[in-house]
Amino acid sequence: MNPHLLFDQWFAEEKALNNLKLPAACCLSTIGLDGYPNARFVSLKEVTDGSFIITGPWGSRKGREIENSTTAALSFWWTATERQVRIQGDVSKISESQAELYFSQRNRDSQIVSTVFEQGKEVESIAHLQEYFEEQKRTLGSEEIKHPEHWGGINIKPIRIEFMEFKKSRLHERKLYTQAGEKWEMTILQP
Ligand SMILES: Cc1cc2nc3c(=O)[nH]c(=O)nc-3n(C[C@H](O)[C@H](O)[C@H](O)COP(=O)(O)O)c2cc1C
Repeated sequence: MNPHLLFDQWFAEEKALNNLKLPAACCLSTIGLDGYPNARFVSLKEVTDGSFIITGPWGSRKGREIENSTTAALSFWWTATERQVRIQGDVSKISESQAELYFSQRNRDSQIVSTVFEQGKEVESIAHLQEYFEEQKRTLGSEEIKHPEHWGGINIKPIRIEFMEFKKSRLHERKLYTQAGEKWEMTILQP
């Protein structure tokens, strides 16, 4: 089976069984500017044309890391189906129009946060953060919040996708799909 179809199938099966608040949560790993791997949870927006899309601000650590090294990994752990998916791939930026579309789908508070804050920058206190947020909200009123240039997204185009399914026997099934030209090659790995 094509690994993208398998991914869609596994994701749908998990969502059907698991009433997760954030079913699209996954771990994005990047290569830190200091060489240390860096990982954090993000939300998978969608998979289009075989690429996995994640959004966020460019000035953040992950944004800077991706600008420096255009490779990343995404990992999913689905508890109801007891399955793991690991993806490694090449990263490119989504288009301005795509970023605008994803931004327009965010709720207003998230749009304001993404517009007025610089993700990852130090703040004096939580109280200052709250105060600034409320002040910005008052200033913006009901004004439409335009997509800020510093906010965008990435496509992760996989070169490798590994599917692992837990088995009671402990003989967990691991299938590794590797991109070989236009095709995918599948190998079965020992648990
Ligand atoms: C479930 C979950 C989903 C998240 N989704 C996103 C996301 O889609 N984009 C984002 O920029 N941060 C998201 N975050 C916050 C990140 O984990 C992280 O705190 C933030 O991106 C800053 O990371 P950085 O300093 O490595 O850039 C999410 C956090 C959690 C726990």
